[in-house]
Amino acid sequence: MKATAKAHTNIALIKYWGKRDESFILPTNNSLSLTLDGFSTTTSVEFREDLSEDIFTLDDKRITGVEYDRVRSFLDLIRNLSDKTLYADVHSINDVPTAAGFASSASGFAALAGAATRAMGLQLSDYELSRITRQGSGSACRSIYGGFAEWQQGVKTDGSDSYAVPIAPVEHWDIRVAAVVLSADMKKVSSREGMRRTVDTSAFFQSWVDSIPNDLEQIKQGIQERDFEKVGQIAEANCLRMHATTLGANPPFTYWADTTMTVMQAVQSLREGGISAYFTIDAGPNVKVLYLPENEEKIKTALMHVPGVTDVILSRAGQGISYK
Ligand code: PMV
Repeated sequence: MKATAKAHTNIALIKYWGKRDESFILPTNNSLSLTLDGFSTTTSVEFREDLSEDIFTLDDKRITGVEYDRVRSFLDLIRNLSDKTLYADVHSINDVPTAAGFASSASGFAALAGAATRAMGLQLSDYELSRITRQGSGSACRSIYGGFAEWQQGVKTDGSDSYAVPIAPVEHWDIRVAAVVLSADMKKVSSREGMRRTVDTSAFFQSWVDSIPNDLEQIKQGIQERDFEKVGQIAEANCLRMHATTLGANPPFTYWADTTMTVMQAVQSLREGGISAYFTIDAGPNVKVLYLPENEEKIKTALMHVPGVTDVILSRAGQGISYK
């Protein structure tokens, strides 16, 4: 009853921002992402008779507290699904620079879901796996697939129609992402708390939700046509609108640090200088920059020179979940 899975993180080009149900993790809008090959988690799960509780080690460190509780609750879902009560020994290795503030929950929960369901002997389709992964971490449900994926929010109250579907495989388009690491502090408002406050109080929340269908339609067209300008412009505008909702919340908050804005301006200057690049930002200060292979060197050099930038990690589109 043992299995190992590897999954990559993903970057949302159309953001998931807001929940309609917190316990099932059901979103208020569809989202669309690109899976990245630079950042992965490999997880082994073994269900054993001799264990009296679940064990979770991450990068050889025994994990307790909130992180452990999230893994344990997720394993409870798998146990319920398979009607078994065995505890699990979970080992994860993160190839994601967590210290740099990158979300490892997407690759982490996708790998955990894949390994745990296989170890239990469950044969799930990608949709079914995505649906259960969603209940570990929302954005993780998109990491089941390589390339571009869309999380369909669904309309049912039990979440049975809320999962991600593939939009275009890795081979479709060699589009790249530079992850810009800043010397800013780690985020102070978790994505869970940030979404909650936004949904409950932001004056801009409804217009954010209303803006999604058009963004999605346009970006999917851009992806099919490999139209970099179109995809970049929509992703950047969608990111700015998501972050605007936090400023309209009560109390207001932002994930941006001063260096976040400096990097955003550097990307604008690159464009003014004829080098096409677009930014997107998640629930933290770091910036991801979309670019095409021919501009890689120039983009990296320019970003490394921005004051406050400590590292620039380049990534290609990544594959979906795999098993060993
Ligand atoms: O899945 P969570 O709870 O880590 O939320 C992710 C939210 C964003 O990263 C800001 C957007 C997204 O779609 O990934």
